[in-house]
Amino acid sequence: MCNQSIQAPAASFVEMEVVHWLRQQLGFHVPSGYTTVTEIGGIMTAGGCLSNTVGMMAARESLFPGSGLTGLPVVASKIRRASGHHLLACVAYAGDSRSMRIDNLHDIGVVLRKNKVWFHVDACHGSQLAFSRTHRHRIRGIEEADSVTIDPHKVLWIPYMCSFALLKDPKSLANISTNSDLILKTQWSLGQITPCVGSKAFDALKLWATIKYFGRSGIETLIDTRLALTKAFQDEINRHTEVLLLNETDINACMFIFMPQSLHQGSRISAEDVEKLNECNLFIKTSILESGDALVHGFNLNRCSHHLLPEDKVVYVLRTINGNPLTTAGHLEEILDTVVDLGHQFYSNEEE
Ligand SMILES: Cc1ncc(COP(=O)(O)O)c(C=O)c1O
Repeated sequence: MCNQSIQAPAASFVEMEVVHWLRQQLGFHVPSGYTTVTEIGGIMTAGGCLSNTVGMMAARESLFPGSGLTGLPVVASKIRRASGHHLLACVAYAGDSRSMRIDNLHDIGVVLRKNKVWFHVDACHGSQLAFSRTHRHRIRGIEEADSVTIDPHKVLWIPYMCSFALLKDPKSLANISTNSDLILKTQWSLGQITPCVGSKAFDALKLWATIKYFGRSGIETLIDTRLALTKAFQDEINRHTEVLLLNETDINACMFIFMPQSLHQGSRISAEDVEKLNECNLFIKTSILESGDALVHGFNLNRCSHHLLPEDKVVYVLRTINGNPLTTAGHLEEILDTVVDLGHQFYSNEEE
């Protein structure tokens, strides 16, 4: 689909319309008409990593126009210094990969605009809130970012690959367009503005079909339902004496650990206890995975802020991402019961 006149003409236009639809959800300006791909204001990429890279490429071109071709000039006046480092751009999270924290996008944006620093938001996860009138306020300020990464393959039920880099000012995209002879230079050749990609599959169709099938309000309902269920799960965890909730977030993820009652003495647990606790939670994660009943994610967290956990110790945490619309409160309760049963099993095996 690299060229509308020789391959699939409709595919290019579907991709461009999907980009506009996403721009609209974020609150970015949507051009009423466009005559070249460089006016679209966003591109589809293979994933969040590449979309974030596109944001950084645009940041660099904005600070050093033409440097993509000529290399970085050393112009001291253009290099702002922050704590001794060159400040090219600031990346904020609307849902980081682990705790799903959402940064204060509005306040960060105000400071960055004042200092003329490129503002990129990794909203791979948090962009789902843009579809919800109830939850949208949590990502207030995203519409002022210079570039934003959105991953429908993470949050909108779309199979891989489906990620987008959106640029507030569509002209920024023109700045990172390629001059490569490998890419056709025709009016609607999307390869001209997509780094590392010439021809590509009709992946936009997946999102386009989802929009057509559910509509804007159907998507909103699914997301609101998912977030309400996640909140109910968090409340349930909080009621549970042996499971500690480790994040409060509006996103569809709960991060928690099993901790037996014997360790709830009010003060931070010892390094030795953390080690055993980590083994226990790894055992819980592996056992659930092997059972095939559910997928509970597990990973090491470097700094875990909970009054019962030492700050300087790596803690192995569990996480559920509530993405499947068929998930019910019953499923989540079952997961919690299983976590507790397996936790008890681990500690009683240890005692034997
Ligand atoms: C916040 C965030 N950004 C970027 C990425 C990378 O996304 P991808 O795997 O689609 O490249 C991830 C992956 O989980 C992520 O959680």
